[in-house]
Amino acid sequence: MSHAAPIPYPDARPTSPPPAATPPLSADQRAQFDAIARIAHTEAALSILPEKAAVVFSRIGKRLRALGLPDAATYVALIEGPNGTQERENLISALTTNVTSFFRENHHFEHFANQILPTLERRARAGGRVRLWSAACSSGQEAYSLAMVILEQFPEASRYDLRILATDVDRQILTAARAGIYPADLAEQIAPARRKRFFNPAVGEHEIEAAPELKSLIAFNRLNLMSNWPMTGRFDAIFCRNVMIYFDQGTQKKLIDRFAGVCSPGAALYLGHSERIDPASTRDFQQVGQTTFTYLPNTEPGKSGPQQE
Ligand SMILES: C[S@@+](CC[C@H](N)C(=O)[O-])C[C@H]1O[C@@H](n2cnc3c(N)ncnc32)[C@H](O)[C@@H]1O
Repeated sequence: MSHAAPIPYPDARPTSPPPAATPPLSADQRAQFDAIARIAHTEAALSILPEKAAVVFSRIGKRLRALGLPDAATYVALIEGPNGTQERENLISALTTNVTSFFRENHHFEHFANQILPTLERRARAGGRVRLWSAACSSGQEAYSLAMVILEQFPEASRYDLRILATDVDRQILTAARAGIYPADLAEQIAPARRKRFFNPAVGEHEIEAAPELKSLIAFNRLNLMSNWPMTGRFDAIFCRNVMIYFDQGTQKKLIDRFAGVCSPGAALYLGHSERIDPASTRDFQQVGQTTFTYLPNTEPGKSGPQQE
């Protein structure tokens, strides 16, 4: 699991000067960086600035060692070639950051518990279907936090048609998410009563494991937000937090439009603390709180979806 600093996309820091200590890239290094950045953009929409070349080469260095490759040129030849499919996936894992925590930006979970869950609970109890999506779930803390909030208010939830889909592009991090085993010091992010109820001591010393009750609500699957979404049915809440910052603005806008296509009316969309929906680009999501939006499709003729110029 990588906890390295995020690689910001261009719009995140338009005025940042390049770090003074970074030596200039040779022509070969620049071509290698460009190839890696191009693949990262094609595969996962990651947008990486040349100023981050040192970070990129450091992360690639770990892949070279793992593969026993002599240099970056050989690595680039591999990921550009027909046998590079698996390694392109590993490259994306190496370049993304998986930083997350339990109850991160807790106001979203409070909003969900107070404003969204009561209606969903009534629907589920009446035999309806409820679907929630943690759309870049990293090592799973977001999805498990959501499951805790649900089970506190609706302890029988797993007996009804209520499920959390938790997805990420990074297969390795999903393995950790599915296991639900965390270092015990992370337990400090969880209130003691919740910890006692929803976590068990794990086999490993100084580790805790999400209880089966939590795990039973969640399906972890690999999904690249840039690819096809095979899910059918609509979502009643989407947590897509702290991933759009890695995408350029055009990609962010397309993603928001795609979310509109899979939300049920009244669904909540939660974004990360530095992520926004440009109000000029859609009328279908209305901001109802800090980085909290409600999907209310605009049914006036010609007014639904993105605004026209
Ligand atoms: C910083 S973590 C955010 C985790 C969690 N949502 C949170 O806010 O705490 C970003 C996650 O986005 C994932 N990611 C990056 N690009 C992605 C893509 N194109 N599709 C799906 N997930 C992606 C990364 O693998 C990483 O686990």
